[in-house]
Amino acid sequence: MGTLAWLNGNFCELDDAKVGVQDRGFLFGDGVYDVIKIYYGRPFSLQAHLERLQRSSLAISIDIPYSLEEIEVVIGSLIKDSKCMSGFVYMQATRGCAPRDHYFPSGVTPTLLIYVLDIGMPASRDNLTPTDCITLPDERWMNCHIKSINLLPNILALQKAKEAGAGEAILYRADGTVTEGTRTNIFAVVDGTVRTHPESRHILTGITRNIALDILHNGNIRLAEKAFTIEDLSEASEVWTTSTGLEIAPVKNIDGQLVNKVVPGPICSFLIEEFWKKIEVECCG
Ligand SMILES: Cc1ncc(COP(=O)(O)O)c(C=O)c1O
Repeated sequence: MGTLAWLNGNFCELDDAKVGVQDRGFLFGDGVYDVIKIYYGRPFSLQAHLERLQRSSLAISIDIPYSLEEIEVVIGSLIKDSKCMSGFVYMQATRGCAPRDHYFPSGVTPTLLIYVLDIGMPASRDNLTPTDCITLPDERWMNCHIKSINLLPNILALQKAKEAGAGEAILYRADGTVTEGTRTNIFAVVDGTVRTHPESRHILTGITRNIALDILHNGNIRLAEKAFTIEDLSEASEVWTTSTGLEIAPVKNIDGQLVNKVVPGPICSFLIEEFWKKIEVECCG
């Protein structure tokens, strides 16, 4: 079976899902998206992802013509019909199809695409490979809290990381403040305190970030939602990234410098353990 999709009210194979070349997502990148991970045949943190999709779309005045309840039903059907046990749900909303003009078109229905991508192998914490990172200037726009489909700076930075033999680029602003990765949020243990950039326009409020913060808070781990600098990062005893796709991923090496001989360190190991318990409670129960 191919990849199942749902486009503007109709189920189809992903390869058969077509939008016009005048779609504003194609012409302008005028749209938003979100990604949900499927574990054991169930979507993890579904509500949080649906609400973020809605927040992102409203932030750029796209009024998705389906309720979150309707989208939830579509996702349930796609996962069931594709018999997907482990994979992703991709959702993308654009302002719709209209003759090219920068102004918002009137009377146009937004495009909503949802599909399920089966990754074909069971989810497992045993696949964990510590990541090597490079650091790069953050060249993105000022509204990174919106999950826009405009990912050009992220793509260019991640490609640079790949060409340098690394798995992620950690981004920093002109004053040296670390914001996040190209597709992840970043945590560092600085002087015994876990730090991560606070919610702001400079980062995406990651769903995995928020789960990690909850776990650390409940585990009475010293924690501050306080930005750290590139210099702090170079002295951190533990660093890890969080994201839907890569979960809690320990960082081994930054710009060729070892973070610590033991990776994952004790706090990251605790977090991974507790994160998987959460997945199992929510998706296996
Ligand atoms: C720029 C950026 N930051 C952080 C994240 C992590 O967010 P989440 O944990 O919700 O996947 C992502 C995920 O796509 C991202 O693109």
